Amino acid sequence: MDQKAISESLAKVSSIEDLEKLRIKYLGKKGLVSLEMKSLASLSVEQKKIRGQELNIFKNFFEKKLKDKKDEIEKLIINEKLKKEKLDTTLPPRDFNSGKIHPISQTIFKTIEIFGSMGFAVKSGPDIETDYNNFTALNIPDHHPAREMQDTFYIQDKVLRTHTSPVQVRTMLESKPPIRIIVPGRTYRSDSDSTHTPMFHQIEGLLIDNFSTMAHLKGCLIDFLKEFFEINDLKYRFRPSYFPFTEPSAEMDIAYTKTNNVLKFGEGEDWLEILGCGMVNPIVLENCKIDSSKYQGFAFGMGIERLSMLKYGITDIRSFYESDFRWLNHYGFNPLDLSSLLGL
Ligand code: PHE
Repeated sequence: MDQKAISESLAKVSSIEDLEKLRIKYLGKKGLVSLEMKSLASLSVEQKKIRGQELNIFKNFFEKKLKDKKDEIEKLIINEKLKKEKLDTTLPPRDFNSGKIHPISQTIFKTIEIFGSMGFAVKSGPDIETDYNNFTALNIPDHHPAREMQDTFYIQDKVLRTHTSPVQVRTMLESKPPIRIIVPGRTYRSDSDSTHTPMFHQIEGLLIDNFSTMAHLKGCLIDFLKEFFEINDLKYRFRPSYFPFTEPSAEMDIAYTKTNNVLKFGEGEDWLEILGCGMVNPIVLENCKIDSSKYQGFAFGMGIERLSMLKYGITDIRSFYESDFRWLNHYGFNPLDLSSLLGL
């Protein structure tokens, strides 16, 4: 059990397992050092002291050597690992075509652009509305059948707005005429099938001044639709209708034909409802602190999904919200595409 021999044996060891075997051989319960310790009993007091000291020195020396060797092996293992495991901090090459603009966003951008060029500013309001703004101020009192027409989601004393019309109320209450705004936004009704989703989008329009008439309303909407659908001789009609907040009220339809399951719109004998509109009811103006003897104007509201489905040939409204990557890739718009950027 001399130190030189131990140093030589340790030098040959290259793994933690072999090192452990060597430790057990000397320092284990039945190891050589333990056996030597036991044999001390048969020695004289004097010899016991000398041999005991020698054994202790050897034990300390061996333990230190073992620890150094262990550190050395562990360091080697880590260095080996580091050599193999390279961390690549560079990003993969960017695919400029991977992100697409959702058709709903594209339709909103296009709509804003067209009404923007007519001088309308963009406004917004909260999705969670007061019952007053969503209904009462718009001349839809409690128990009015129009409330049932729009299957409302109630949240305690608030509602998820059933249309973007409450933003008319908010705008009239906080600003003075002339007012010329459009309001794109989310709306909610408890309804779900291939043409209805519980959440959908509308664009509201409101214009208040002291001269605008139904003729201006018609001109504005006709210009918008021609521009939006890029059809100059678009076939349309205005149909008398009823909304509590406009008087008179109308709905606008555009013509379409369906041959071999392909929808062609802007011509034909069938009609598709596209929006509601009318002259702002004086009762609403008064509710919103606007003098109805001085001011008048018009309002309209249309479904963005409906516009988008018609323009881009999408047949099921639910597909807008399924987040199907293949669908998005097909119907989405390239953000860096010059014609999308220019709204062409
Ligand atoms: N708010 C109506 C709806 O959701 C649409 C509309 C807006 C009608 C403005 C007239 C004027 O059906």
